Amino acid sequence: MNVTFTVAAGGKLNGRLRVPGDKSISHRSIMLGSLAEGTTEVEGFLEGEDNLATLNAFRAMGVDISGPDNGRVTIQGAGLHGLKAPTEPLYLGNSGTSMRLLAGLMAAQAFDVEMSGDASLSKRPMRRVTEPLASMGAVLETDPDGTPPIHVKGGQPLKGVHYEMPVASAQVKSCMLLAGLYAEGETCVTEPAPTRDHTERMLRGFGYEVRSEGNRICLNGGGRLSACHIDVPGDISSATFFMVGAAISEGSDITLEHVGINPTRIGVINILKLMGADLSLENQREVGGEPVADIRVRGSKLKGIAIPEEQVPLAIDEFPALFVAAACAEGETVLTGARELRVKESDRIQVMADGLQILGVDAVPTEDGMVIRGGPIGSGRVESHGDHRIAMSFAMAALRAEGSITINDCANVNTSFPGFASLSREVGLGIEQTNG
Ligand code: S3P
Repeated sequence: MNVTFTVAAGGKLNGRLRVPGDKSISHRSIMLGSLAEGTTEVEGFLEGEDNLATLNAFRAMGVDISGPDNGRVTIQGAGLHGLKAPTEPLYLGNSGTSMRLLAGLMAAQAFDVEMSGDASLSKRPMRRVTEPLASMGAVLETDPDGTPPIHVKGGQPLKGVHYEMPVASAQVKSCMLLAGLYAEGETCVTEPAPTRDHTERMLRGFGYEVRSEGNRICLNGGGRLSACHIDVPGDISSATFFMVGAAISEGSDITLEHVGINPTRIGVINILKLMGADLSLENQREVGGEPVADIRVRGSKLKGIAIPEEQVPLAIDEFPALFVAAACAEGETVLTGARELRVKESDRIQVMADGLQILGVDAVPTEDGMVIRGGPIGSGRVESHGDHRIAMSFAMAALRAEGSITINDCANVNTSFPGFASLSREVGLGIEQTNG
């Protein structure tokens, strides 16, 4: 389906809202729930296409999963050795997380599997997982350029390894830890910088021992997972669009309820505060092993900054929206050390720079980031290249634009944020969605 957003210029965001559940935690809840012994109940599950791809993959491997029904999912765990060979390739749509995490799990199964994806996922680099898995004894094959589909040959005994990750990637870390559940001996992963730690937290929640010392995370194979209850908080990556939208528009005052504020995910809060945003955390609490808060943001004047490189992995999915904040800030914002953005659902450096330039913003892409000089935002038609986060970011840019913004190719917003247009309209964004 061809989905287009047309967003009227100006306005402000007001009110309280709850964004859908966290995508990363929702993926992991299905994976670990399926591998556990006993019944796992999940609440707040994100019913986005990416998570449904993970859910359907486990159903295809014989796991009894009911729901999702209003964010509730019940999983009858099959145990670590209870998955069955799927009769068809596992189709994972747009979801890099599904494919990379499953690569680790599939590498350890007794059966062969093929995993494929849509046009975007079929272009994404998979050697970052297939090479370290091969060092454990796994046998996986990609296309010659290292992209999907991935063919996994089952029945390979795995050996624990100590792996130093060349890129800061939670997907690679998680892939190795999941393979490590099945490996002989100890599997350790060392990260060059902290990345989201939902896998480690949730493994512990399922009763599995995971040792973290500094930037090294280790576990031993051969244990078991015990079913538990999972309460998925709102996704800070989805909250980001409203945080930026409110921060850039005068008179806005929005409260985002029950958002996950795991320290490995709050780069966007840190960066917006450095830019001068009026942002506060209210009602901080812990829910199911993850910190949660209500985030209040009011419109204010933002200033350009040099984004500290250590914040990059902590805000890795938030840069499309942060580029919009930079376009509305006074002065120059410089991002470096973010080469990874070029291999996300789209090349987020190039695609955002192209769209911002169409809107008259002085945005200069660099190899590993962008230089943006804040100024007026014009109007026009921009391409999202099927990237959900690009589409939602340009929608928020309209709050400060001189005329309306039309965004092409927005169907994939459903991968992470079903209902984005209607929820945004409720709090004041002049957004219309047309389905062609
Ligand atoms: C994710 C990790 C990140 C992020 C992705 C979800 C995860 O990818 O971009 O949206 O759930 O582990 P990398 O770890 O490859 O940076």
